[in-house]
Amino acid sequence: MTTKRMLVTAALPYANGHIHLGHLVEYIQTDIFVRFQKLRGRRCIYICADDTHGTAIMIRARQEGRPETELIADMQAAHQRDFAGFDIAFDHYGSTNAPENYELCKEIWAKLRHQGLIREADVEQLFDPVAGTFLADRFVKGTCPVCKSPGEYGDNCSKCGATYSPSDLIDPVSTLSGATPEKRSAQHLFVQLEMLHPFLDTWTQSGNHLQDEVANYLKGHFLGKPLRDWDVSRPEPYFGFAIPDSPGNYWYVWFDAPVGYIASTHQWCKLHSERLDDWWRNPETEIHHFIGKDIAYFHTLFWPGVLHASGFSLPTFVHIHGFLTVDREKMSKSKGTQVSAAKYLEHLDPSYLRYYYASKLGPRLDDIDLNLAEFAAKIDSDLVGKVVNLASRTARFVESLGLAQEYPHDGGLFAAGAAAGSKIAEAYEQVDYARAMRLIMELADAANAYVENTAPWTLKKDPNQQVRLQEVCSVVLNLFRQLCVYLAPVLPRLADGCGRLLQSEIRSWQDSQTPLVGTSVSKFEHLMQRVDPGKVQQMIEESKDQTPVTVPNATVPASVAVAETTPAPDEPLQLEPLAPTCTIDDFAKVDLRVARVIKAEEVPEAKKLVKLTVSLGGDVTRTVFAGIKAAYTLQQLEGRLVVIVANLQPRQMKFGLSEGMVTAAGPGGTEVFLLGVDSGAKPGQRVH
Ligand code: MSP
Ligand code: ZN
Repeated sequence: MTTKRMLVTAALPYANGHIHLGHLVEYIQTDIFVRFQKLRGRRCIYICADDTHGTAIMIRARQEGRPETELIADMQAAHQRDFAGFDIAFDHYGSTNAPENYELCKEIWAKLRHQGLIREADVEQLFDPVAGTFLADRFVKGTCPVCKSPGEYGDNCSKCGATYSPSDLIDPVSTLSGATPEKRSAQHLFVQLEMLHPFLDTWTQSGNHLQDEVANYLKGHFLGKPLRDWDVSRPEPYFGFAIPDSPGNYWYVWFDAPVGYIASTHQWCKLHSERLDDWWRNPETEIHHFIGKDIAYFHTLFWPGVLHASGFSLPTFVHIHGFLTVDREKMSKSKGTQVSAAKYLEHLDPSYLRYYYASKLGPRLDDIDLNLAEFAAKIDSDLVGKVVNLASRTARFVESLGLAQEYPHDGGLFAAGAAAGSKIAEAYEQVDYARAMRLIMELADAANAYVENTAPWTLKKDPNQQVRLQEVCSVVLNLFRQLCVYLAPVLPRLADGCGRLLQSEIRSWQDSQTPLVGTSVSKFEHLMQRVDPGKVQQMIEESKDQTPVTVPNATVPASVAVAETTPAPDEPLQLEPLAPTCTIDDFAKVDLRVARVIKAEEVPEAKKLVKLTVSLGGDVTRTVFAGIKAAYTLQQLEGRLVVIVANLQPRQMKFGLSEGMVTAAGPGGTEVFLLGVDSGAKPGQRVH
């Protein structure tokens, strides 16, 4: 068996959102690949990291009123918790916001400069004067310049399909502040990709590094004409790494993100006394990237180009998968099908999803459909009905006896199963897990037929058949173990359970080739339960367009999480009992609006007050005075979204006119909690 080094990565998830079932397609697919390689005895490491830079993170941090570093630290903790919950076992999980990454970016940048690959040019871009930032395409909305449909995003029209630049939009509006963006010019830096065209032609079309459909797509869509220069810088303000030789400019997030693969490997190397060059500058080391089809362009053109130009190893293979749909539709928050990893784990066993995805994943780019009815049926029939069943029907009968001293005649079943191992391994190797699962289930069918024919439960009743009973159970438990070895990359928990049951840990693929004899059998413990359809339903219900499931830093206090019948005397409800019923019309009289704090100032004459200037979108602003000085600093307030009572009768105060009220909870003083809204809401939107 070869011990050549193998480095495997999954895409680095963005730090601006939680992991959901769509992401898990990839992290599970990759984890299975790595576990398979390790089981086969290969030296293989699974490297990942959080992708932390960019405008979206900067804006979100502002909205939450805290530094980006705090936001990304919380997100990373949440991501790692979610992954661990699904038995996704990284060898190292880093962050793109790490010193190792900055060093590598500088090193790569210097090489690109040195080779004359970088050019500078002024770019006119829309700038939001209220939020004080340049606007990425998706932060601008307006009327399509072609078909005049209103409310279209800055890069293309959802109605007529036209593509354009955001400055072509009619009446553009910033989605961050509602302000009308201005055109501003700034210097940008570009990688002249066309200079790498000959290399990319060869590399992508060699037939060895990409799936055929990907290679053909690149040839048909990009490589037939000159490659466009790639804009790799953003002017400040930006959350990212400052470009050392271009003051005021930062590397665009997609420049430093893939470098994170190398940086995270570097961190792993430091922890394990390894040399980075052995992993990233050694043709003997295989490098495998797993990604989704939406980010194929970055990984098959930009990234190989950058690696080539800077002297690092090229990926051996970029494995690209399709997108998850749920019941044939895009995941949707309103239907509750965008299920977060954390929400799934509240209700269901992670092994179910690992097996289900494995049974669906082939080597092609087709989308993967999670059919909720089929999900339960497949787990019940395959895993519980065919695999675990083998153990649950026989283990108890040999608890005291152990396995037979000699492996009994089984009509060639174990040998056939052992021989199937090479085909199953080949399927795993080709990332054709669906085929591997089919082959394994065929073996399970044969094992179940043996159980039916030998009927150990009948033998159990006959005192003269106890030797035969032990033989039959020894065969079935060995067939069970063989299946567990083959399933170990997908179902590590099942493999562990099997190891405990038969008191022999599954360590290697080779364990499928020889039966166990004479070992004792532990007391049978539950290995897997049938899927409770009620729990699937509940998971979907609870995923319907609510607030994020686990907001880092905002753990729900126990008193809220647990529904209590009578509040304790100092509980909020006791202190302030509910008001008499009002009608929906009464409520509608209060016009609550989302607003952004654009300025927060001291009011020297008033100890408790701050003066807030809030934007309701466009040019509409309001001045309000709020008694929140003890609870918030001015800095925490500026930039964040609040909910205001927008139609409150203005009130003349000593220090000025208050034109509304900011909503908040809590008794006052330092205990004031402003109402916020989830990111995506726009100033001016009404709260219903
Ligand atoms: N941060 C970038 C990747 C940088 S890699 C140097 C990114 N992050 S992501 O969080 O949006 O996505 C991470 C991975 O999950 C991507 O490979 C993406 O294709 C995959 N998926 C995200 N949603 C998905 C589905 N609904 N279905 C399948 N995979 C999906 O992209
Ligand atoms: Zn249009």
